[in-house]
Amino acid sequence: MERFLIEGPVALSGEVRAGGSKNTALPLMCAALLSEGTSVLGNVPLLRDTRTMLRVLETLGAKSELNSDHRLTINAGELAELEAPYDLVKTMRASVYVMGPLLGRFGRARVSLPGGCAWGPRPVDLHLMGMERLGATVELDHGYIDAKAPPGGRLRGAEITFRISSVGATANVMMAAVLAEGRTVLENAAREPDIRYLAEGLCRMGAKIEGVGSSTIIIDGVESLGPLEMDIPPDRIEVGTFLAAAPITGGRVRVVDCVPEEQGALLELFRQGGLEMEVGEDWIEVDGHGGLSALEVVTAPYPGFPTDMQAQIMAACAVAEGVSTLTETIYLDRFTHVAELRRLGAKIRLDGNVAVVTGSRHLDGAPVMATDLRCSAALILAACRAKGETTLSRIYHIDRGYERIEEKLTQLGAKIRREEEPS
Ligand code: EPZ
Repeated sequence: MERFLIEGPVALSGEVRAGGSKNTALPLMCAALLSEGTSVLGNVPLLRDTRTMLRVLETLGAKSELNSDHRLTINAGELAELEAPYDLVKTMRASVYVMGPLLGRFGRARVSLPGGCAWGPRPVDLHLMGMERLGATVELDHGYIDAKAPPGGRLRGAEITFRISSVGATANVMMAAVLAEGRTVLENAAREPDIRYLAEGLCRMGAKIEGVGSSTIIIDGVESLGPLEMDIPPDRIEVGTFLAAAPITGGRVRVVDCVPEEQGALLELFRQGGLEMEVGEDWIEVDGHGGLSALEVVTAPYPGFPTDMQAQIMAACAVAEGVSTLTETIYLDRFTHVAELRRLGAKIRLDGNVAVVTGSRHLDGAPVMATDLRCSAALILAACRAKGETTLSRIYHIDRGYERIEEKLTQLGAKIRREEEPS
């Protein structure tokens, strides 16, 4: 087991580039299952999660190769299996994304039901509802979802309204509907950039999709799809994490090769908090020297403020001027980072799904523990601000979604090193 050793305080400053987007790469890797040909993805992040997804695809029988220059080839010409096993799905919920492509192309999918996570149940009822609306029969069998297309093996287009906006259900059902017979209309569909990029990829394969980016997506099914060729866009949550380093540590950070429009909600908060910023065509610079004033943060589906930035912005509020409130509306229990931030001296009171944070300029280094991916990002940045040494354990969480984060933070002046946990 590895951990990070971090020395503070350091004002992180300089220029940095985010890697390819994890939450865009994962569904696009599954989209490759829709074609017999060899798909090629560029700028694929080298993460625990993308490697797990490769193992899921290989378990199905796909041939793949991911090399060190982030280029991935996937050939799903012949699949031996149509089953995603519990051992893999339990380590990464996004493995459930294979259900749509398998059902759409082969008329059958058997996928382990993902369990819950640290923030609660995280059901997949909307995924299953969508598959049933497309004519599939869905049964739960010994912890597995067993889905079958109607006789004849092809799904049928349908009108589907999602009870709540779900990134995963929109992606999964979209990947099933592209090979269905007739038209599918998704209402209250997710509007996240990951969905837009997925649709772009599917259209490059020959799919017919309109309305992406709005909450109504129209898909006209086609007979077959060709292979996918696409570069993964920059990771907007990684971009946001680096930008948050400026107000958390009092530095000046420029993130290059990013998509500024995707940071709208975060930049609006920084504006309300009185931060100086500059935005270019594909870069953003945030100056945290002047300090942040208190914020009122409410997480929401895109283009609202992303829940995946909630922990990082909480760390910024912990060193801001005044009392901030953070209301988490997507995962009501997504506060496992609170206890750890308190260990660094943050003043946080929880009231249901609202965190009340009283800012103080001073944090102190301490031993802390990562509980999930975004929690660990927030703790690393808070530790850079804190006085003295912090040890962060269970960093396998951060390797799920950030590639070589310690190298990129060292670029910004961080004093951080990865080491074996003493036994
Ligand atoms: C995606 O998860 C992201 N994961 C998450 O990022 C992110 O937090 C989440 O979207 C919200 O933005 C990936 O893209 C791989 P949802 P997903 O379906 O698709 C409820 C990270 O840190 N819901 O949009 O699982 C659900 O419980 C990860 O990178 C149902 O009730 O999220 C939640 O409250 C963590 N039934 C809400 O909808 C369903 O069938 C939104 O979830 C599906 C979802």
